Amino acid sequence: MTEQSGGEVEQTREFTVQFQRLIRRMLEDLPDDSGGDALEPVLTEHLGVPSAGLPVVSEPVPHHRAVDADLALEAVAGDDAHARVIGLSGDMRHHLTLGDILQHGPRGPVRVGQVDYDRLDTGPAADQVRQVITSGIWLLRFEGRPAAVRVQGSAPQYGRQEGRLEVLAPDRDAADALVTRLRELMDELSVLRGKVVTLVDEPFGHGFAGITFVPRPDVDASAVVLPDGLLDRVVHHVVGMGEHRSRLRDAGQHLKRGVLLYGPPGTGKTHTIRHLLARTPGTTAVLLAGGSLRHIHAAASIARAHQPAIVVLEDCDLVAEDRSFGMGPSPLLFEVLDTLDGLDADADVAFLLTTNRVEDLEVALAQRPGRVDLAAEIPLPDAEGRLALLRLYGGHLFSAEAMSTATARTEGTTASFTKELVRRAVLAAAIADEPPADDHLGIALDELLSDGERLTRSLLGVDPGAGDDAEPGPAPFPPAGRPRRGGFHAYAPGGGAAYRG
Ligand SMILES: Nc1ncnc2c1ncn2[C@@H]1O[C@H](COP(=O)(O)OP(=O)(O)OP(=O)(O)O)[C@@H](O)[C@H]1O
Ligand SMILES: [Mg+2]
Repeated sequence: MTEQSGGEVEQTREFTVQFQRLIRRMLEDLPDDSGGDALEPVLTEHLGVPSAGLPVVSEPVPHHRAVDADLALEAVAGDDAHARVIGLSGDMRHHLTLGDILQHGPRGPVRVGQVDYDRLDTGPAADQVRQVITSGIWLLRFEGRPAAVRVQGSAPQYGRQEGRLEVLAPDRDAADALVTRLRELMDELSVLRGKVVTLVDEPFGHGFAGITFVPRPDVDASAVVLPDGLLDRVVHHVVGMGEHRSRLRDAGQHLKRGVLLYGPPGTGKTHTIRHLLARTPGTTAVLLAGGSLRHIHAAASIARAHQPAIVVLEDCDLVAEDRSFGMGPSPLLFEVLDTLDGLDADADVAFLLTTNRVEDLEVALAQRPGRVDLAAEIPLPDAEGRLALLRLYGGHLFSAEAMSTATARTEGTTASFTKELVRRAVLAAAIADEPPADDHLGIALDELLSDGERLTRSLLGVDPGAGDDAEPGPAPFPPAGRPRRGGFHAYAPGGGAAYRG
């Protein structure tokens, strides 16, 4: 490399300076191909003060509250005849906060452009959908003062698990007041209120709790066959306590309640919960099952904001089993139990926990007393129960004698077994092209109790050994050391499958 002389250095420097000037001129003369006007002047004109230096008040909006935020903004805008939404252009709109955008000045990468929308559910029916703004800025007036609210939906593909509102106003107090009002309106207008929902994971990532609306189940008390007085006790605790909320509160008694339903698979824990949900129209219910129990905080905050509420925590044993951090009950289970404790005692919220392996929960529950104030065992049906179940599912089809014979042969089986038995009998009749009759009940029973159906019995929650040739007697409970059975109907995708219809 040869040394540059002093004159050459000077020349190079001069060239660089000129070249920079040229580039700058070219950029300035370049037609604006980003398509939109600069954002800053629009905001400045609306607010009446230079927008660039103003503080931005940001409010996170979980994905499952996006519709509520949209409704709240529309309500505030409704008081202002000149309110309007402007959109944003440029890919950087997905990444930059409003403060960042304004910092970039008039030539920044985000300009006035199109408003982005998403269609989100507002209820379980196919036509319960709302177009919700996922990117845009409301220009409106609140309490007589101008404000701008930037809306950004959650976008896990860009690493944003939650959406947010960013409020810009001429002074900080005005921005804070608007945020407070928006929060109130979100709870007031919430589409979750009085509905039954499950929190589900989207394929994108962990913390992303989308919401699925589930039709409220329609299970009458007459369709729930349990030992005398058991259903009443549970209903009284969950529903009755809510009905007397004001008296309990006046007397300084806590309203929050926790009920644990435990017992073998297929005996009616989920069925009982479906009945409780049917009994409580107007109560907001959040259903979590197995892995989705991770969303317990979101569920608790929905419950708090939408009282009266029920939070269902199905199959808690699955969580108890997750001992990723060594021995003992899983940290997630403690987190669940602590969340139950964290909610105000006078909140009208009922937590309903189910498990078919209560021994896995016992340690954790004993270490965190006070979370559950009623533990009800949902047992295998006794002879009287099995007869009642046969009457419920097939009473109009078979004679009293055939049903009593079947009752004797089904010792140790579950309620879901009896339900399947009747279905098989009807199927056997259909195959024979005959109306269902006693013979078909016998055929179906032979089939279900045969060796070839061991796995079926297991899936119906029945001890696989149960059957005519096996030792009679109830299936051992707790089913120590056996894999969890019969849970398929309980935690299908979305966690709400067991509740549909
Ligand atoms: N006690 C019952 N009375 C009437 N029908 C019942 C009863 N128990 C169960 N069934 C019927 O069997 C089906 C399955 O029962 P359910 O899902 O309630 O069992 P579960 O106790 O929740 O089992 P798991 O522990 O596997 O979740 C119910 O949808 C219902 O049709
Ligand atoms: Mg269940």
